[in-house]
Amino acid sequence: MNENQVIAMPKIGDKAPEFKAVTTQGEINFPSDYEGSWVILFSHPADFTPVCTSEFMTFAVMEEQFAKANCKLVGLSVDGLYSHIAWLRTIKEKIEYRGMKDVEVKFPLIEDITMEVSKRYGMIQPGESSTKAVRAVFFVDPKGIIRTIIYYPLSLGRNFDELYRVLIALQTADEFSVATPADWRPGDDVIVPPAGSCGVAKDRMEGKEDIKCYDWFFCTKKLDKDTVLKKLIKK
Ligand code: BEZ
Repeated sequence: MNENQVIAMPKIGDKAPEFKAVTTQGEINFPSDYEGSWVILFSHPADFTPVCTSEFMTFAVMEEQFAKANCKLVGLSVDGLYSHIAWLRTIKEKIEYRGMKDVEVKFPLIEDITMEVSKRYGMIQPGESSTKAVRAVFFVDPKGIIRTIIYYPLSLGRNFDELYRVLIALQTADEFSVATPADWRPGDDVIVPPAGSCGVAKDRMEGKEDIKCYDWFFCTKKLDKDTVLKKLIKK
């Protein structure tokens, strides 16, 4: 890639750009190695920095929770492999933070000293920093399609409950052919597609289906928490 070449940032609905990379868990081919799983590809600005350390500890502690929802984690920064290894070792051996200690980061952390991957994924945002990646989060589905992208600036640690909520909401939308309203969590009502005909819309408005309509364009139905969790979460 030439320095002046402008590459379009990936967008929701795009196939995740392919790359091969060296990581703390060996070489990976992205996204093909993750076919059949959801994967969260996320970047952090730099190893041995406090916000990133708090984030890595949190993600590592939640890794099993994400795995039970068929989701793998892959980190990236523009640091080299030996820096990654030393930082992750320091986290395990020395850092105790908010009840988390002896935390082992088992998911791969990509070295990207050439910035090839981070530039391809729009993780280098020069208004914020031209030498560090911002805190980007790409949710990629089992077919390798980007389904959600979230960016945070350098100073702002991510909300990992929200990242998990996004994953479960995306999976719920796929599995149950619904949409999820503001602040949705499993057990809350979900949004059903608009009625296909006036007759159905009228039935809905009159409460003839198990659907609640706030107006013709805004209808919800119950979706039991157990039904969602049974479908999406491995025991
Ligand atoms: C941090 O992770 O603490 C951090 C990294 C880069 C810039 C600012 C904060």
